[in-house]
Amino acid sequence: MGKSINNNYHKKLVIGLFGFGVVGEGLYKALQQTSSLNATIKKVCIKHPGKKRNAPEELFTTDKDVLLNDEEINVIVEVINESEPAFEIVSTALLNGKHVVSASKKMIAEHLPQLLQLQKKTGKSFLCEAAACASIPVIRNLEEYYDNDLLHSLKAIVNGSTNFILTKMFEEDLDFKDALLLAQQLGFAESDPSLDVDGWDAINKWIILLAHAYGIVEYPTNVVFNGIQNIQLSDAVVAKEKHYDIKLVAQAKKLLNGKVAAFVLPQFVKHDEPLSFVKNEYNGVVIESSFADKQFFYGKGAGSFPTASAVLSDIGALRYNYHYEYKKLYHHIVPELATDFYIKAYVSFDDWKFIPKEKFEWIEEWHAEEERKYLIGVIAFSELKINNWWKENNTSLILSPEPIIEDVEIRKLKKKSLELAGV
Ligand SMILES: NC(=O)c1ccc[n+]([C@@H]2O[C@H](COP(=O)([O-])OP(=O)(O)OC[C@H]3O[C@@H](n4cnc5c(N)ncnc54)[C@H](OP(=O)(O)O)[C@@H]3O)[C@@H](O)[C@H]2O)c1
Repeated sequence: MGKSINNNYHKKLVIGLFGFGVVGEGLYKALQQTSSLNATIKKVCIKHPGKKRNAPEELFTTDKDVLLNDEEINVIVEVINESEPAFEIVSTALLNGKHVVSASKKMIAEHLPQLLQLQKKTGKSFLCEAAACASIPVIRNLEEYYDNDLLHSLKAIVNGSTNFILTKMFEEDLDFKDALLLAQQLGFAESDPSLDVDGWDAINKWIILLAHAYGIVEYPTNVVFNGIQNIQLSDAVVAKEKHYDIKLVAQAKKLLNGKVAAFVLPQFVKHDEPLSFVKNEYNGVVIESSFADKQFFYGKGAGSFPTASAVLSDIGALRYNYHYEYKKLYHHIVPELATDFYIKAYVSFDDWKFIPKEKFEWIEEWHAEEERKYLIGVIAFSELKINNWWKENNTSLILSPEPIIEDVEIRKLKKKSLELAGV
């Protein structure tokens, strides 16, 4: 018994690495400092052969089949920046009997059902801790520690670029464009920032986490999300007056009817909430569960070594044949994604003509300055799913600190708000 554990521990991992950019090179360097892993990179596949690399030339190839057909290679690490080729590499690797570690959140979010099938069919491991919140070990925790029934809610800041921009808008009173420019200069945002700023990166990560948290498998565009592209300096001023921060929050909450409300939207966050503590390029995850109350994970969600550390941990887990069981998906009743609830939100806009006021259940507060106007009101969540007025024409929607109002509560609250209004 002791011998087999020992053998397993020393199982030799021979790695074929796809990608030698920010993450790939970080992993290469990190592996050189972790000899106890007993893992070596045999070959690296890249796209542009002419680039100068900080590694021996003979390590590199542009022919993916050299790695995928090498029988000695038992692990493929895929960290390239193109989604469709990444999916092709990962699926071929699994079908060729190799374990796979990947950080490619876009590819994973867009191909989750196929990846689940491939894992079932081949029995090989597909691990992707680095794909959501990079250095924070949230996927394995959701897989192993939290039972579906016990998991009340999950709230997270999963995108460092947008969090950096929002922090600078708050702390240095920069408008959105200047804060974005600063983020780009400091390397916290891409030259084409739309993937981050418009919320795509966050929703891709959220799709992955929803599968591990609740067994919910959805396509990214099927879940309501937005980025921070329409947030104005005037929104930050209102937030400050009300003693809130603004964060791009990914959240999921189990409702009384058993369904799960899930979305990624900007939100007012109270100063005493753990997510308010997450500043600049950092990520944070707050998990609420029965009995344990709140738990808070905090760390770097991007960058060469923080991301490589998660890839490294997955490689280490392969030594003992670790694989995701997707227990919530395969061994529980998967909760439906809810649309039958209401949300309370602040909406700021240039002109009343862009706002369908009649669609609000009630409006609690409104202000109309010459330049910019805002209201705070309650609206059916389904309206956000069906229509787009709330993210068009420079309109900015920011959720209230406790945004979800369940169907069963709405009548009571509506009556109370009419009484307060003297109607
Ligand atoms: N950067 C982060 O902090 C971070 C964090 C979490 C997850 N991720 C994810 O990790 C992945 C890699 O990100 P990165 O920042 O390391 O990207 P990157 O710096 O742009 O590097 C991409 C690498 O992929 C190679 N490549 C592109 N297409 C290829 C193909 N068809 N075949 C083989 N190699 C190919 C490129 O080759 P050349 O060098 O020849 O151009 C390059 O080495 C992405 O999916 C990203 O979303 C990144």
